[in-house]
This record gives sequence, C-alpha cells and structure tokens, in this order.
Amino acid sequence: MAEIPKGMEHVDRRELYTSLPARIQYLQQFLEFGADDVVALIDGQKYIKTIIPAIVNMVYKKLLKHDITARVFSTRDSRNEENPDRWIKEEDAQITHRKMFLRWYLTKLNSDPSKMEYWQYLDKVGLMHVGKGRRNPLHVDYLFLGACLGYIQDSMTEAILSHPRLELTQKIAIVKAIGKVIWIQNDLMAKWHVEDGREFTDAADDEEIRAEAGEPEGYVHGRKVLGSGSEESSSIDASSISSEKSTTSLGRSIEQVRLSGEQSKCPFSGMAVDMDKQRATTWRPRRHEPEAKPPPTGIPRLYVVDGKTVCKEKLEPNPWDED
Ligand code: HEM
Repeated sequence: MAEIPKGMEHVDRRELYTSLPARIQYLQQFLEFGADDVVALIDGQKYIKTIIPAIVNMVYKKLLKHDITARVFSTRDSRNEENPDRWIKEEDAQITHRKMFLRWYLTKLNSDPSKMEYWQYLDKVGLMHVGKGRRNPLHVDYLFLGACLGYIQDSMTEAILSHPRLELTQKIAIVKAIGKVIWIQNDLMAKWHVEDGREFTDAADDEEIRAEAGEPEGYVHGRKVLGSGSEESSSIDASSISSEKSTTSLGRSIEQVRLSGEQSKCPFSGMAVDMDKQRATTWRPRRHEPEAKPPPTGIPRLYVVDGKTVCKEKLEPNPWDED
C-alpha cells in the first residue's frame, strides 16, 4: 500500500461519523467556509432579520398546502397517511408557536457560526426530526426536510439579491455564506436518515440522545440557544466545548480535532497549513485588528475579463474596489 501523497490530507472515516467537530471541519474545508463567510453572516444579519418573518410565513403556507406535510402537525409522523380528525390551520396556536421557533432558528442560522454550539444546535434540529431527542417523538421523512431547506435557500437568495441598497459584493458574500451554512444543515439532517457509517455508532450515542430528549425546545446541552436571552446564555467558548464532550472514537479531544489543521498529525500536511487556518470553529472575524486586512469578500472565484475566464486569485487589482 502506498503512503498518501505529499500535500494530500488524511480524513478518518470513523471520525466523520462519530465526531461532530470532525464532520463540521471536513464540510467547512470542502465548502471553503472561511472568515469571509463568518463576516458576511454577522454583517448581513441586520438585513436578513427583516426578511425572516416573511420567509417563515411562506414556509408554513407551503407546508400546509399539501396533505402529506400538513398531516405531520397532527400525527408527528410523515409516514402515517391517515387523515387527522381536524386539519391544522395557519391561524392555529400550534402553527403560531412553530413559526416563532422557525423565526428563532433562522435568526440563529444567520448569526455568528464560529462557536461549536452553533453547529451542535443545527445537528440537534436534524436529530429531532427523526424520532429522536424528543420526549414526544417527531418523524419527518428526509424528502420534506431537503425540500424545505431548498425553499428557504431560494427565498433568502431572492430577497438578498433584490435588496435595493446593498452593494453587489456584499450580496454575493451573504448569498454564498448562507448557501454553505444551509448545505451543512442539509448534511446534518441527511446524516440521521442515511445508513452510511452506522457501523460506527454505539450505545454511548443512544445514551446521549436520550439525555437530549429531556431538554426543552431551543436548548443544547442544557443551554438556551434560541430566542430572546439566548445570546447571553449561549456563551460557550471553544475551550469549554473540549471539556464538554470527552473524546472522538480515535481518542482525540474536540480541541485536538479543532487544531488538527494547524498541528496536523499527518506528516505531509505542512503544505496545506496556511489554507487550513481558516476554520470557523477557531476563527473570529478580524475586522477590528488593523494588521489583518479583511479578505476580499464577495468577489466571484471565476470572473470574465475581456472574454476570458480569470480566477479570483489572479484578479489584481480588485475590479470592485474603487481605490
Ligand atoms: C428546513 C427544514 C426544517 C427546519 C430547519 C426545521 C426546524 C425546526 C425547529 C428549529 C424546530 C423546534 C425547535 C427546537 O426544539 O429547538 C422544529 C420542530 C418541528 N418541526 Fe421542523 N423544521 C424543518 C422542517 C420541517 C418539516 C418539513 C416539518 C413537517 C412536515 C416539520 C415539522 C416540525 C414539527 C411538527 C415540530 C415540533 C416538534 C415538537 O413539538 O417537539 N419541520 N423544526
């Protein structure tokens, strides 16, 4: 068997299926989710907040338009095709309550993703739709979750691109960042439905899921992460996460997984270290540090100049910059 070539990074399959930070790190690297995206989400939050109520209303109109999804609000299981005694309506208190949670969820989705708690909550949202992590189980087939995420992404993209005053570069940055976050959420929903990696899940996971089932809505590991007051109470920092959940199946602590890009165990990984420094779980936006010039946000990776396609890296000077 040949060693992995110089410059190629090792990804451990078991870790992807047993450690959330390892999975998130891989997805972030692959999608090139970087400091640009963190800044775009934080800066874009004020614009996105204004469109969230409208998006939530549109989502619920969609879900209540077809019997197969409307039924779930009575049966709590999309596999059950029996009609309920009474069909839920948009004006019902239950839907008002659900709308509030979706509003809080979308606000969370468009907030600072540099804390692990952010991704833990997205993972929990996936888990709670497969009959786990809830005292009163809920099952929604993946098909409806994927469709719903697609609809949310489409609505947000349209709203952001149509904004009358935002700069095009900022629109591009926000649309890109949201797209990546939604695709990671999609993975964190799909992973509970597909069988891939099942050979690695063990009794410890079931125990943890049972513990989560006792938590109220909007909580992760005993902390409130959604809704009013969640910002103050969700102050988990990187160091607290490592002690919070033991080790991965390879015996690496969460902190070790997080740092693995900078001090990788792979003997050939030195070459890739610069790129890997961009990790959401370790980055903080550096807007206020004078020495760290913010990366060019929202500049297309591919750009057509005089009929020729040019890569972002070769675009000098920045065509969007008027200085
Ligand atoms: C984009 C996909 C979806 C997202 C992001 C999402 C998000 C959420 C969130 C954040 C909660 C509760 C919050 C919490 O406990 O912390 C929730 C609960 C719920 N969701 Fe979804 N949802 C999605 C798709 C769906 C679909 C397609 C249905 C039905 C067809 C559905 C039905 C429900 C129901 C019935 C609950 C209440 C669970 C309970 O009372 O315990 N969701 N969802």
